[in-house]
Formats: sequence, structure tokens, C-alpha cells
Amino acid sequence: MKQIKLILMALCCVSFIASAQKPTVYVLATGGTIAGEGKTEVNSAYTSGAITVDELLSAVPEINDIATIKGEQVANIGSQDMNDEVWLKLSKRVNELLKKSDVHAIVITHGTDTQEETAYFLNLTVKSDKPVILVGSMRPSTAISADGPRNIYNAVACAVDKSSKGKGVMVVMDDRILGADDLSKTNTLSVGTFQNPNFGELGIVYNGKPVYSREPMKRHTSKSEFDVSHLDKLPRVEIILSYSNATDLFVNAAVNAGVKGIVTAGVGNGNLTTVMQNALAAAVKNGVAVVRSSRIATGPTAQWDEIDDDKLGFSASWFVNPYRARVLLMLALTKTNNYKEIQRMFTEY
Ligand code: DGL
Repeated sequence: MKQIKLILMALCCVSFIASAQKPTVYVLATGGTIAGEGKTEVNSAYTSGAITVDELLSAVPEINDIATIKGEQVANIGSQDMNDEVWLKLSKRVNELLKKSDVHAIVITHGTDTQEETAYFLNLTVKSDKPVILVGSMRPSTAISADGPRNIYNAVACAVDKSSKGKGVMVVMDDRILGADDLSKTNTLSVGTFQNPNFGELGIVYNGKPVYSREPMKRHTSKSEFDVSHLDKLPRVEIILSYSNATDLFVNAAVNAGVKGIVTAGVGNGNLTTVMQNALAAAVKNGVAVVRSSRIATGPTAQWDEIDDDKLGFSASWFVNPYRARVLLMLALTKTNNYKEIQRMFTEY
């Protein structure tokens, strides 16, 4: 009897030491398809954000071999409903956790619809070089060949690997590692939907290990100037699309609603119909910051082309697409509404 007790105690010690040696990774869940439940294994109809973080994690027991996992439910929504309140909560919680010396990294489960916006928001507001990785899935947890469990395993595998430090916020899906600086959802249904269309992906996950092939080129995380730790709301910024015959209707509506900034998704190199451009120039005179971006999927919205940004008081977004440009402009407006200063930020982030 005494011997059995001793063996049990020894086993407990071994497992305690083993778990103490494993890096601690927090998995913060926010909802999305990865936490979705379908009507059947093959039907495309499903409800986002239906299962909890514990249920999600129980589908990938293998992650417990490589990390000590702690799950937290931050929200449980389809990411089409992602909002400033959850962003601020998430950013503050990530910063709080990463300050602890015993927390190695954060994995965030998230719907794919607005994942590029949340990843970029965190890329600009997290104050740490420790890995922060967003992960989602395109198929609900109940589907045949659900992609969520593999994506979660890969995300945790990247999170615990020391080569993942200092790379800014990343997204791991479909065996690929993508940077938040150039993230786009490019396909409505495909499991390989995410791309870094201008700069190329950061790397791949191979046999459960990250293999990086480039560094992020833009300012991020610990080198970012933005601090939301004392904020409970963000300046309101709207995105307005341009197209043939676009009028001043939405620009005027936005100004009348009291927005602080407008991002345009212009045609070509961020061009705008003359009537829309004139309305935006008037908006600038009323103190609204205007950033030109483009509805085109790749290439910069560059200054010094057909539009004289300096004359009109506009800033150009360069490689930041309209959705991420909205995020950067919101953060920029927490510090300034000077168009030159905002232009600097769009060239640096
Ligand atoms: N409603 C979408 C969202 O949460 C589902 C899409 C997805 O997660 O892939 O973003």
C-alpha cells in the first residue's frame, strides 16, 4: 500500500514538473465559424459562435502535449458583429496577460469575416513581442473535415515556437502564417481564404512547426505609438465606396452624423468622382480627416498621382486596404487629425 502511494506521488510530481516546463498559452475565444454548429455534417447552413472555448479546445487534445492551455471566453459572436467594445476588451486583456512572466503567448479564436480588422487593431495596440496569433476556420466544428482543430493546433504550435517572437500579430490558417500588416480575406468559402496579397505570407506550418520566410516590414506591437489602455471608446470612422456615378450622398450623411474620419474605397489608385472629391474636400474644411484607399485588392493607393492630396488635405493609405485603413485612422485620431501626421502613420504602419 505504502509503495503504491509513493509511486502515485512520484507520478504526480513528474506530471507537475512536465506541465511546469510547458509554455503557458492563453486561448481567448471570440466566436465565429470555428465555434459554429451546422445543421448537418454537409449542409452549409450553420450558426456562428455556438460552442464554448472548452468545447473548442476539447476537439484538439494534442495541444496539451505542447503547451499548458488556459481558455477564456471573451465574446461569442459572428465576427460581422465585432465592435470597438470587444476590441478594447481584447487588447487590454492581451496586454494584461502578456505582462505576466509565466504567460508565453496568446491564441485568439475569431470569425474570419472581420479577422483582418481585429488582427490589425491588435497589431497596433498590443505592447509585447510575445506571439499573438489569431485563428479561425471556414467550416463549422460539426462539418466533415472541419478545418478548425488543425488550425488551432497549428496556431498553438506557432505560439510556443521561439521563432514566432517579434513578428507582430499573425493569423495561422490552412497551414500558412500570415502577417496582420497585409491581411485580406480573399474568398468567401475557401479554407485558404487569407492572403498577404502585397507582401506575401510570413511562412508556413510544416509538420507542426513554423517555417518563416519573411519578417513583417511595418511598425507593430511593441514599436507602435498607439495606446488604448485608458480608452473606453474610439473615434467614429466610416468607409465610403466610389464607383461610376457615385454622388456626395454618403459623404454628406457621414459628415452630418458627426464622424471624425472617412476612409474612401476609391476606384483605381484611390480616385473619386469629382462630386465626391469636392464633398470630401469640404468635409476636411469641417475638421473631418479623409484617407484615400482603394477598392482594388492589390497595389498601393499612392500619393502624387491624379489627386493632389496636399492641396485637398487628404492622406493616402499606401498598402493599407480600406478595412485596415479604418482601424489605423481610428487610432490615428486618438492622437491627431493633422493630415500630414496621419500620412506619416500610413507610410509607417
Ligand atoms: N459569421 C462569420 C464570422 O464569424 C462566419 C465566417 C467565419 O468565421 O468563417 O466571421
